[in-house]
Amino acid sequence: MSNATMRAVVYEKPFSVVIRDVEKPKIVHPDDVIVKVTTSCICGSDLHMYEGRTAAEPGIVFGHENMGIVDEVGPAVAVLKKGDRVVMPFNVGCGRCANCEEGRSAFCTHVNPGFVSHYDSYVAMGPYKGGQAEYVRVPYADFNALKLPPGKENEADFSLLADIFPTGWHGVKLSGFKPGESVVVFGGGPVGLMAAYSANIQGASDVYVVDRVKERLDKAREIGCIPIDFSKGDAVDQILKLRGGNEVDRGVDAVGYQATTGDGKTEQPNVVLESLIRVVKPTGGLGIPGLYVPKDPGAPDSAAAKGYISFPFGKLFEKGLTIGTGQCNVKSYNRYLRDLIISGKAKPSFVVSHEVSLDQAPAAYDKFDRRVEGYTKVLLHP
Ligand SMILES: NC(=O)c1ccc[n+]([C@@H]2O[C@H](COP(=O)([O-])OP(=O)(O)OC[C@H]3O[C@@H](n4cnc5c(N)ncnc54)[C@H](O)[C@@H]3O)[C@@H](O)[C@H]2O)c1
Ligand SMILES: [Zn+2]
Ligand SMILES: [Zn+2]
Repeated sequence: MSNATMRAVVYEKPFSVVIRDVEKPKIVHPDDVIVKVTTSCICGSDLHMYEGRTAAEPGIVFGHENMGIVDEVGPAVAVLKKGDRVVMPFNVGCGRCANCEEGRSAFCTHVNPGFVSHYDSYVAMGPYKGGQAEYVRVPYADFNALKLPPGKENEADFSLLADIFPTGWHGVKLSGFKPGESVVVFGGGPVGLMAAYSANIQGASDVYVVDRVKERLDKAREIGCIPIDFSKGDAVDQILKLRGGNEVDRGVDAVGYQATTGDGKTEQPNVVLESLIRVVKPTGGLGIPGLYVPKDPGAPDSAAAKGYISFPFGKLFEKGLTIGTGQCNVKSYNRYLRDLIISGKAKPSFVVSHEVSLDQAPAAYDKFDRRVEGYTKVLLHP
């Protein structure tokens, strides 16, 4: 048994992942559990690695949105038991440092000092293997695994607690949103749609969702938002026109550094930040869960390659806007969002477009990356 193997999604080179046999994880610390993965989602964040736009090295196992059944329990684990159904936040926290204790588990200083830690060593974020595999090791398991009701119900909804539902919720929160306010969300991908959905649950008056992909704009409309297609003209102009010239209260950037102009091809890393500063009212707020990186090997210019993004700071100052950004502290939301799912008040799985077996991951990555055939959110079932 010592050299047991399992199948996993392995990053081979830009635009290529393969299914390969890798070593099955073992308990390496008394606080660990091993989870038999039932669902692992593909994330927009995986695509930055997939496209070779991060420092991710070939050979790593992808997958940071993991849920499953506890299969093995380390000797120091007190709360979890074999057979428990659990979902893990995409970021790993120790549960003991100041940031973890204060609910900022995305900024655990112990697991990976100075940076966020993550399954699949995403963007150099820590030493943990990903969960797009048959099994995954969960460190500090009592802290990191959230227990779910047993059975198979709401599997797709619960799997989204690993990342995008809390991240969307966090994006709205970062903007300083208050019930009754209007919100614009740039990006109708999974994170943007979850931000829009969260804004609705939190009591937004009007929610605009900006994207250029038809299926994504359709989903935005389905959940009661106002879709804005930025391939048909400047998004800010369209929104201001709809509102008789009035700006919106809050804005969320759910696009990040690979933002494009209206043709969907030309990257312009500052375009969403610039638009948000234009469209949000003076003293409003910007929430920026969209990813920006300190080093981009494929950046369109030398400044962006170093993570320098230019945007009209003077206008931001003049308007007295606030900015909140960073990785989502999943632990501070997932328990409550789980309960919204259990009570039937939230059903985030409307965003899921495809559920496939692990073997189909290479094709799913390719299609999701090209955002074709309605690929919006893909769930892998090992
Ligand atoms: N902060 C966190 O904790 C966290 C967690 C998960 C994901 N993320 C990041 O959030 C971002 C979104 O994730 P996703 O999974 O939804 O990605 P995604 O790539 O599926 O979606 C991004 C969407 O933005 C659209 N877009 C591109 N340029 C645009 C523009 N100028 N205006 C409006 N829309 C534009 C694209 O058409 C696409 O549909 C990514 O950068 C991801 O890395 C952050
Ligand atoms: Zn993710
Ligand atoms: Zn910590």
